[in-house]
Amino acid sequence: MKKVTLSTLQKKKQEGTKITALTAYDASFAKLFDEQGIDTLLIGDSMGMVLQGHKDTLPVTVDDIAYHTACVARGCERTLIIADMPFMSYATPEDAYKNAAKLMASGASMVKVEGGEWLTETIFGLTQRGIPVCGHIGLTPQSVHVFGGFKIQGKTEEAAQSLVDSALALEKAGAQLIVLECVPIAVGKAVSEAVAIPVIGIGAGVHTDGQILVMHDMLGVSANYMPKFSKNYLQQTGDLRASVSQFIKEVEAGEFPGDEHSFK
Ligand code: KIV
Repeated sequence: MKKVTLSTLQKKKQEGTKITALTAYDASFAKLFDEQGIDTLLIGDSMGMVLQGHKDTLPVTVDDIAYHTACVARGCERTLIIADMPFMSYATPEDAYKNAAKLMASGASMVKVEGGEWLTETIFGLTQRGIPVCGHIGLTPQSVHVFGGFKIQGKTEEAAQSLVDSALALEKAGAQLIVLECVPIAVGKAVSEAVAIPVIGIGAGVHTDGQILVMHDMLGVSANYMPKFSKNYLQQTGDLRASVSQFIKEVEAGEFPGDEHSFK
């Protein structure tokens, strides 16, 4: 099977083929997802909530992500591996270079950072140093205390425009992928159309260039509440492998997320 690279994802956007992504934290699930044909696996700082049982993602450390990235990398043959940079690990460009290097050495092919315009110097510096960057905008969970909770973003015209502007700024700085979280469907569409790089949505409607879900949510086993934008594929199919292939099938067919999983 051919290895998935950033060129593969870029080609998918150009051809209008949807990108499929899940979070993963260990070698066994990574292997299962890899074998079913998932394009991208994210070692997300969501591990703070779904693995470690915290209320948010803030306690996750670079060492946590590095350890789980190495586990996932051992299970994968073809999937593109993205490692999340945890809270305060990229507060300055120098912090970002040092910590991203550790995650790349652990087996990642790209790192993800949460935020908009303030990150442009960091993203430029990382890509110049050979580290591909995925931006993450919309509901950025590391800023949960700034938002006053896990709230839908981009609800006013001004807030929606600001997300489009952030996506353009990240792209200009060198980001090669964007995750867009918890925004109305129309904002998912506007952001995805504004940039040439692929936009992977989570709770951002059906018009983004791809979809990502937290694996525990899509299997209905999360210790936390089930977000409205997720779907329990294990309940639907009754089988682990079938859950993943059904998720891929529905994303590629534009059937997931449906209206019931999206924000108006
Ligand atoms: O940490 C994570 O799992 C994420 C996804 C929700 C995109 O950032």
